[in-house]
Order: sequence, then structure tokens, then C-alpha cells
Amino acid sequence: MGVGLVKDKAGIQSFDLPKPEITQPDHVLVRVKQVGLDGTDFNIVRYDLQDMADGQETMALGHELLGVVERVGSDVRSLASGDTVTMTVRRGCGQCQPCLHNESDMCMTGLFTERGIHKLHGALSEYVVDEEQYVVKVPPGLEDIAVLTEPLSIVEKAIEEIRIIQSRMLWTCSHQEHRYLSDDWGGCKFALVVGAGPLGLLGAALLRLADVATVVTDIVPKDHPKAQRVAQLGASYVEGHGKTAEQLMEVCTITAGNLDIVLEASGAADMAVQIIQYMTRDSIYVMTGIPREGLNVQVDAGQIVRQMVRYNQVLVGSVNSNRTHFEMALRDIPRIVSRFPGFLEGLFTRRLPLARYEEAFAAKGPGDIKTLIRVSE
Ligand code: BGC
Ligand code: ZN
Repeated sequence: MGVGLVKDKAGIQSFDLPKPEITQPDHVLVRVKQVGLDGTDFNIVRYDLQDMADGQETMALGHELLGVVERVGSDVRSLASGDTVTMTVRRGCGQCQPCLHNESDMCMTGLFTERGIHKLHGALSEYVVDEEQYVVKVPPGLEDIAVLTEPLSIVEKAIEEIRIIQSRMLWTCSHQEHRYLSDDWGGCKFALVVGAGPLGLLGAALLRLADVATVVTDIVPKDHPKAQRVAQLGASYVEGHGKTAEQLMEVCTITAGNLDIVLEASGAADMAVQIIQYMTRDSIYVMTGIPREGLNVQVDAGQIVRQMVRYNQVLVGSVNSNRTHFEMALRDIPRIVSRFPGFLEGLFTRRLPLARYEEAFAAKGPGDIKTLIRVSE
């Protein structure tokens, strides 16, 4: 069975999906155990973003997976049956230099495919087959939580962008050891994370691991589980509901002063654009949320451009992730687990078997953060 989209039919559907076969020597057959759902999955269903490959009538969703290797092709060396694994999402175009060098997240042609999103079946089915290069082994002990590797890899990439770009400055505080290429940024940097969904929360966790003073804002009330997760990270939560960008930023700068880092993970385009006006000197703003609808807002373009130049500001978008970001995520999961016990588990507010897929894709409840689908034991 596959769960996802059926051509010309709205909503989430189930359909027959034959068990995929190993047809290449580098193929790995994986039995799917768990799939995490994210905003992209909900948006695909909600906005009926049908994007199957030509000639295909169905597309299984699901791009955050945890599974177990059932069988491997004759050339596979790094994996064996019984290994717990996860998988990267994007398959490169095979033409551009980034795609030819394991950086399909930076594809320059746009001719890539993505599992469960763009022209390829995802993981909401019993089995998937893929090439060894896309299958990432999960170290022992992380089986219960490694389904979060993919979303964590997305923010690993975003934070890596910050490290690389901000290494343009040697001195950001009086401690050379806190420069942007270091693991630990000291208590001398301040970040605002916009959106307390799974991505925002995972991003905040990485910022806190680097010892950044972090404020997370969202529209949910202060007693929402999202705000509780923020508190668990030793970050502060600011309720943004009903606040203008100006009011919101007032609260944040009272807390901080300098806004060194902004991480946008809400996809709320209006606020995302308005916040540019409040960036400070030498600061960096990374956008990861993907708005699905058009939206016109009025901003003072003169002020924004003037300020970006005068203040050396950087605005950068970041999408997807490659294998190296998955490996970073798998290294950071144990660090998050030991520093913020219970935080990662606490992101899953709903756990449902695959058979209850309709419920899983129905509108989220008021206290929900993330849904986990149990595909097999
Ligand atoms: C996925 C990315 C993907 C992006 C755009 C996100 O939900 O995590 O891997 O590139 O959607 O399709
Ligand atoms: Zn490419």
C-alpha cells in the first residue's frame, strides 16, 4: 500500500503500490518503520500540489523516514541487512556541478527530483529501494529518535550557511574562540527564531548547542507545547500573536540589543519580510520556511537597501540538505539528547499507525507540534 496523492483526486489517498525490487547492484531495500510529517506534507495535501512524474497516476508522500535494511545489492559495502537507516530527500539532475558532486541541495538546473515531494514516491509505503549513496546508516542507540534526522539536517545546513558566510568576520565579540567557524559561539551572540514548528525548534536547539542566546517567536499562546519545548532549550518564547513586527522586535531587542542571527522557519511571508528592517550591523538572516500563497506587503525599499549596504547585512535562503548534513544531524542528536533530555521526543505530539493516515493528515489539533506515522514495528 502507498499513501499519498492520486492524480486528479483531492486529499490524501491510499493505493496499491507494488513492493519495489532491487534492480541495480548498488540498490538497498529498506523496510519503512516510521515516517515523520512536516509542513510540506500538509501543504501538498492542502493545496493539492500534484507533482508526480510523467505517466504516473500516484505519488506516495513521506520524506522523513526511519527504516531497516532488508536486503542489499551485490555492490553495496557500507550497509547490511538489519541496519537502521534514513534517506536523503533529493536526487540530483545529473547535469550540474553541484549535483555531480553530492551537493544536489544546491542544484543549479532545477531538474532534480525529491522523494515524496517532487516526482518520486516517498516513504509512506511498506518498502523503498534506493541507491546506497542516498541511504544513511543510523548509529546504534539512536533508533528511537533518528526519524528526526531529515528535519534536523535542514537546519544543520542553514546553520552551516551562517558559519560559512559569517566567517567573513574574525571578531564578533572579544573572544576569538567564539568566531563563527567554532562549535561554540559563546554566550555573546543573539538569535531570533521565527516559528516554533519542528524546524524552528530544531534550529533553536542547534543554536543553543552553540550557546547562542535565543528567542523563539510564534503565534501560539505561552502555555502551548511549542513554548514548553522552547523553555526546555533554555531559550525564551515571545508570543507574536496580534503583535506588529515593530512590537515584536521591541520585545526582542529589549532582551538582546544586537540581532546577530535571524532564522526564519515559519513561512509567514509578511512577517518574514518585515523583520528585515530590524536586522542590525553585520547580521545574517536565513530563510527556510516556504510560503505557498502570493502576498503583497508594503515595505520601505529605500530603507532596506540602504541598511543592507551600510550594515553589511546578509539575507540568505536555504533549502533541502545533502548527505553531509544528515551526518552532522546524526552527530548532533546525541548532543541534543544529553543536553536537553526529552526535547526531541516531545516534538511528537501524535503517533498514529499508517492505517490511520486520514486522521494523520487531517488538520492538526491546537496542541500539536509534529505527527509520527508508524508504518511497521
Ligand atoms: C524538505 C526538503 C525539501 C523542501 C522543498 C522540505 O520539507 O525537508 O528536503 O527540499 O521541502 O521541497
Ligand atoms: Zn543539478
